[in-house]
Amino acid sequence: MILERRQRIEIPDMEERSEGLLQFMQQDNPRNGMKKLAELMHLYNAAMKEVNTKLEALDEELMICRTYNPIHHLECRVKGVASIYKKMKKYGVDVSLDSARESILDIAGIRVICNFVDDIYTVERLLLKQPDITLLNRKDYIVEPKENGYRSLHIIIKVPVYLSSKIEYVPVEIQMRTIAMDYWASLEHMMRYKNSADTQNHSAMLLECANALATTEANMQAIREGIEKE
Ligand code: GTP
Ligand code: MG
Repeated sequence: MILERRQRIEIPDMEERSEGLLQFMQQDNPRNGMKKLAELMHLYNAAMKEVNTKLEALDEELMICRTYNPIHHLECRVKGVASIYKKMKKYGVDVSLDSARESILDIAGIRVICNFVDDIYTVERLLLKQPDITLLNRKDYIVEPKENGYRSLHIIIKVPVYLSSKIEYVPVEIQMRTIAMDYWASLEHMMRYKNSADTQNHSAMLLECANALATTEANMQAIREGIEKE
């Protein structure tokens, strides 16, 4: 199952979008600029779909071989112009399409939501074993959660995209988490987005919730291992 999330349209986003478009088009005439932007988006979209298909195929194969699906569901998105532009400003890099390709590694993003913690590492191992995939970066916030309690495994990989005249190697960010980690991250993100001041005051409670979910998850995993041994 793939859930493609459309980014919500907000007025500030629309401002950033037009500002970003103007900056991206600066080096070129509008027609060429738009064409380059469309080519860039196509590249990331193709890379995202490719990795998505790889993940779906792995999941289906495991269902056939082990009658078990490690992936609960997948979500994917290609960053919009506003969001790419905002990140480039945050990083303080030159705003151009070439520098977006160099500096923004999460233009194509996939979230893999697994049932159990060990499913995450199984899927990661099987994906990284594929010879056309190169690992660029790995952050394991499961082994070392963030201070606020956030847990997930983040990897950035490069995959080849076969264009009509050449091969391009395109980065894709994959965030891998369990249903419980996703539940916490989604609600924490929503609450932070709605009211940053209040979330600050509730940070201790949020951390407590993250720890409680981690304990529950470890218990669920132990139950599963117990059942498998029976
Ligand atoms: P940027 O990629 O510039 O955002 O910084 P980074 O590379 O240091 O970020 P990192 O790889 O740690 O996290 C990138 C993404 O992970 C974010 O865009 C979120 O989707 C997710 N994420 C990271 N930390 C948190 C968190 O504390 N709460 C939630 N809800 N999501 C987080
Ligand atoms: Mg990042």
